[in-house]
Amino acid sequence: MSSSRFVLFLLLSLAPFSFSHQKAQIQETFHECLSNIQTPNTFFTPNDTNFTQILKSRAINLKFRTPSTPKPDAIFTPLNETHIQTAVICAKKLGIHLRTRSGGHDYEGLSYTSVMGRPFVVIDLSKMQDVNVDLADNSVWAETGATIDRLVQIMNTGFPELGLKKEDCFEMSWIESVMHIMEYPKIVPPSVLLERKPSFLNYFKAKSDFVREVIPESGLEGMWKIMLEYGSPLMIWNPYGGIMSKIPESSIPFPHRNGVLFKVQYVSAWMDPAMEDKHVSEIRKVYDYMTTYVTKSPREAYVNYRDLDIGMNGKSDDSWGFKYFKDNFHTLRKIKTKFDYSNFFSHEQSIPLID
Ligand SMILES: *[C@@H]1O[C@H](CO)[C@@H](O)[C@H](O)[C@H]1NC(C)=O
Ligand SMILES: *[C@@H]1O[C@H](CO)[C@@H](O)[C@H](O)[C@H]1NC(C)=O
Ligand SMILES: *[C@@H]1O[C@H](CO)[C@@H](O)[C@H](O)[C@H]1NC(C)=O
Repeated sequence: MSSSRFVLFLLLSLAPFSFSHQKAQIQETFHECLSNIQTPNTFFTPNDTNFTQILKSRAINLKFRTPSTPKPDAIFTPLNETHIQTAVICAKKLGIHLRTRSGGHDYEGLSYTSVMGRPFVVIDLSKMQDVNVDLADNSVWAETGATIDRLVQIMNTGFPELGLKKEDCFEMSWIESVMHIMEYPKIVPPSVLLERKPSFLNYFKAKSDFVREVIPESGLEGMWKIMLEYGSPLMIWNPYGGIMSKIPESSIPFPHRNGVLFKVQYVSAWMDPAMEDKHVSEIRKVYDYMTTYVTKSPREAYVNYRDLDIGMNGKSDDSWGFKYFKDNFHTLRKIKTKFDYSNFFSHEQSIPLID
């Protein structure tokens, strides 16, 4: 949540500093200060039976679960943002050192232990785990304490038919997701990308579409059928929305924005060159099947999934240009004509001059 993030920023920047507090004093004064927002079961000291269980609940590195690991003098588990703000203000006022713990990685355990030798209190955000799905706004806000379990739960409430299990989800950084999509085994480090070599070579043909209206179930049924029959191509759907929708269509050449639900990439790949005709004809048939369910007039396409099937200079009209760029195609042609009137830079789908 943005305001939780703001609080975290505050936590980092306040840097309260005092060694004078003894354990009991910290527990007492902090508890006292929080008293005006006290809700039951949000404040725990080592005397409480639940203290250890809460402390360990998200201490997933065994290195930091030993008896000698420095422990907080208290754990506060806020239920809402007001509670967090109050805790931060109290800690600042009392000079209490805070650690905050949410739902993410913490390889050195700095959110729940300390090697600095000073007493500290943990603000554990594990009870702040609302996930709000706003379909109208195409947004999901996950509170900072939410973990993947919670997201899986939402998926299973909204889309039980997908049968999503926790084991199907992997928490990973962006670069790890790149490695995952490229099907590198987990042990391969991202530095392999610096070799700038493709991970494998094959023969392939790709096409693309954009979808602006929900595909009815009957459409999906037919899609499964044809794909299962051919065993190819594979389809990748990239969700759109969010900031993509807010940027005006004409601001840069890429026009597939407001109203696009997702992009479809079709890819057919093969290793035996003799199989080319079969695969290319199959991907075209799947593409034909999808005509009913995707954008029309123009049938939009993604320029970086280059596809000569949709037309090319000298061999067809220029409707392919509108598929890639919609009305920006006019502007691109004006620019092209102004700066490269001899058409020096040209290829099958380079921007044509204005006639
Ligand atoms: C304390 O632990 C008990 C037993 O595990 C559990 O039922 C209870 O909900 C816990 N209380 C809090 C505040 O976490
Ligand atoms: C909590 O435990 C400490 C010893 O660890 C003890 O001195 C203190 O009195 C206890 N507090 C309460 C409220 O039981
Ligand atoms: C948070 O909970 C307290 C009760 O403990 C309530 O008074 C307060 O209005 C709540 N704040 C928000 C932002 O929900």
